[in-house]
Amino acid sequence: MIHIEQLIKKAFEAREKAYAPYSDFKVGAALLCKDGSIYGGCNIENASYGVCNCAERTAFFRAVYEGKREFQAIAIVGKSESAEEFDYCAPCGVCRQVMAEFCDPDEFQIILPRSLTDYKVYTLGQILPLCFTGKDMKK
Ligand code: THU
Repeated sequence: MIHIEQLIKKAFEAREKAYAPYSDFKVGAALLCKDGSIYGGCNIENASYGVCNCAERTAFFRAVYEGKREFQAIAIVGKSESAEEFDYCAPCGVCRQVMAEFCDPDEFQIILPRSLTDYKVYTLGQILPLCFTGKDMKK
């Protein structure tokens, strides 16, 4: 059983890989699959700004490519290179929607750390209420 602190540590490690020369805001994510495996992700920016990919989506897309479809939790850390301390870095709306595609809103946990031991935990349903999913298309 993975400890939350281990997942947070992986998110900080993933952040080291961030490619963010335009915003200087580096983000790392660590996605915990139900089988216990963890996929890291970082933000990857582009000179054409709209092409930027968030850390969370990098982690999800890596995991899905590897055949994973069941997820337990994600830890996300982000800060500007000039900022001294981390503050809670909530996922953007697009990333929340990607989470909604694969995760149970009542079970999937979003862990927002400021440090290894100081963090907030939300369910996906708390941060993306009334979301649109494939189920809505079958009604
Ligand atoms: N970003 C993420 O990777 N995840 C978030 O939760 C918030 C924003 C990235 C996108 C962009 O590369 C930079 O942070 C500034 O928006």
